[in-house]
Amino acid sequence: MTKGAIIVGASSGIGEALARELAADGYEVGLAARRTERMKAIGAELPTKAYVATMDVTDTADAREGFFELANAMPAVDVVVLSAGVGSINPDLEWTDERRTIDVNVRGFVAVATAALEYFETTPTPEKERDGHLVGISSVAAHVGIGALPAYSASKAFVSRYLEGLRARQSRSESDVAITTVEPGYVDTELSYGSFWECSPETAAEQIARAIRKEREHVYVTRRWRLVAWLLKAMPESVRRRLVA
Ligand SMILES: NC(=O)c1ccc[n+]([C@@H]2O[C@H](COP(=O)([O-])OP(=O)(O)OC[C@H]3O[C@@H](n4cnc5c(N)ncnc54)[C@H](OP(=O)(O)O)[C@@H]3O)[C@@H](O)[C@H]2O)c1
Repeated sequence: MTKGAIIVGASSGIGEALARELAADGYEVGLAARRTERMKAIGAELPTKAYVATMDVTDTADAREGFFELANAMPAVDVVVLSAGVGSINPDLEWTDERRTIDVNVRGFVAVATAALEYFETTPTPEKERDGHLVGISSVAAHVGIGALPAYSASKAFVSRYLEGLRARQSRSESDVAITTVEPGYVDTELSYGSFWECSPETAAEQIARAIRKEREHVYVTRRWRLVAWLLKAMPESVRRRLVA
């Protein structure tokens, strides 16, 4: 049976590495983001069939339409990964930067997450155990308000809490969609803000693919970031503030 995965934010970084990892695992992959030529080049290198959709998630109506078109063009969509994300170091609180982060990481995220759930919940999958699997890429930054990245850290708190809400909704739903929250620490991509415990996008993709196989609800990437998240949650804000700029 053909397996399919859509990755939104597949043109670079974690999304690109995950496209390669899932294709090596036998998935046909739908690649979505703004940089069409990069996705075409990535798709041409995959061992399975690739589908490319140009999409700006901040144009929410167009992104949702593009998502359904992409899903309907593929023989099967078992997994949707939402990896599209941006962030700007912005201690001066430039509104255009704050707005862009919220537009992509919050509005864009919800626009495509709701489209993916609508697709899974209304597309019959008689031969499959699950109706689908939604995977959202959040961040360890979800656990701390960062002075230089206030919109980014808050947007990731939103993503983690939103996915938790979707899991709660699923537990009372007739449909059977798995929901996975991924919280990476530093990953060596264009977006990375630090080098402490930084892993390669390939290592991140391997660990995310394993979480997908095991249908985990929540995973830190790499696993040692669980300790950092736990410490951040346990300490008072005044201490967190001294440790994280
Ligand atoms: N790298 C890290 O240290 C780290 C740590 C924790 C969490 N994360 C999260 O991991 C995810 C992937 O980031 P990355 O590190 O792989 O960075 P990246 O290489 O910059 O990838 C970001 C992806 O998002 C896409 N994107 C950005 N704006 C978009 C828009 N308006 N519409 C559609 N797609 C858009 C980009 O594609 P186009 O530019 O082609 O549109 C690209 O494919 C993000 O959600 C990020 O917050 C990263």
